Amino acid sequence: MKALEDQVVQEEPGYQDDEESFFQDIDLLQKHGINVADIKKLKSVGICTVKGIQMTTRRALCNVKGLSEAKVDKIKEAANKLIEPGFLTAFEYSEKRKMVFHITTGSQEFDKLLGGGIESMAITEAFGEFRTGKTQLSHTLCVTAQLPGPDGYTGGKIIFIDTENTFRPDRLRDIADRFNVDHDAVLDNVLYARAYTSEHQMELLDYVAAKFHEEAGIFKLLIIDSIMALFRVDFSGRGELAERQQKLAQMLSRLQKISEEYNVAVFVTNQMTADPGATMTFQADPKKPIGGHILAHASTTRISLRKGRGELRIAKIYDSPEMPENEATFAITAGGIGDAKE
Ligand SMILES: Nc1ncnc2c1ncn2[C@@H]1O[C@H](COP(=O)(O)OP(=O)(O)OP(=O)(O)O)[C@@H](O)[C@H]1O
Ligand SMILES: [Mg+2]
Repeated sequence: MKALEDQVVQEEPGYQDDEESFFQDIDLLQKHGINVADIKKLKSVGICTVKGIQMTTRRALCNVKGLSEAKVDKIKEAANKLIEPGFLTAFEYSEKRKMVFHITTGSQEFDKLLGGGIESMAITEAFGEFRTGKTQLSHTLCVTAQLPGPDGYTGGKIIFIDTENTFRPDRLRDIADRFNVDHDAVLDNVLYARAYTSEHQMELLDYVAAKFHEEAGIFKLLIIDSIMALFRVDFSGRGELAERQQKLAQMLSRLQKISEEYNVAVFVTNQMTADPGATMTFQADPKKPIGGHILAHASTTRISLRKGRGELRIAKIYDSPEMPENEATFAITAGGIGDAKE
């Protein structure tokens, strides 16, 4: 990672080592009789770790070009030799959870709401109407993820997948100024890709996995702004809904795996739609996030954003395994997301 400033690069002793032993490289399969060519085939579809094999079904592996059923069996067997196939004690699991870090939103109030910020090994979804700050939050995270934080967080690189053509490097420069960090360094640490179709969006995830693997422990955050926009275009009407949801489920499962496999935070934004049933049931909020149950269940934490006065916005925890349903007010400023001034 390119240094933001000298003070920013100070490495915690041993931290990098921990990160490196966080996953087992797929090349280790060679020791168990899997040949290099087959390992290369797995890598070509973004499976770069032994855990990645465990996370992929036999059926999906058989669909990889050049892998026969017999080969897949051999690969699964080899992977199981390297990795305990299942249970941990709660203590072991809590040790693993200690690697979880949080990335600040830029607003203390907002962070408090989230229990410290955007969490790693999880998918955080922010949804809201237009101009509620989803893209501004995405940009702010591109900078704050690079800054060292509490609990030995060293900061790291970011991958940004843009589906709406709203990514603006100039915004990163403004936000970098607020945190007194170098423009070029900040921009150098953000890898950007524009996705043009939902299929392309999925294909990019192979590249993402490869990158996270290649620069182990360096990448901390993956942003997709927005997760649903292209699905909305590519699949229209009721007739294609089932197919859309199936493809969406595959993408989300992929994101979930990537976040756990490489200990990164995944942040996605989402749009809202009018709920046609709402007027019938007199719901207070007639709009709801799109993506249905599939997205609802895949997101670890869901945040709903709505407009307040002027530059103020209100964030509400919609669904979280550990945080209560609270609200926080924040502001959109020239320097990104910040606290509302009293
Ligand atoms: N440089 C800036 N300084 C202050 N506020 C800004 C700046 N740039 C954008 N904003 C504010 O951010 C808001 C737009 O937020 P954002 O683009 O994040 O919305 P969004 O939720 O992504 O909307 P959409 O659904 O259209 O993508 C606007 O109210 C705008 O005034
Ligand atoms: Mg936006």
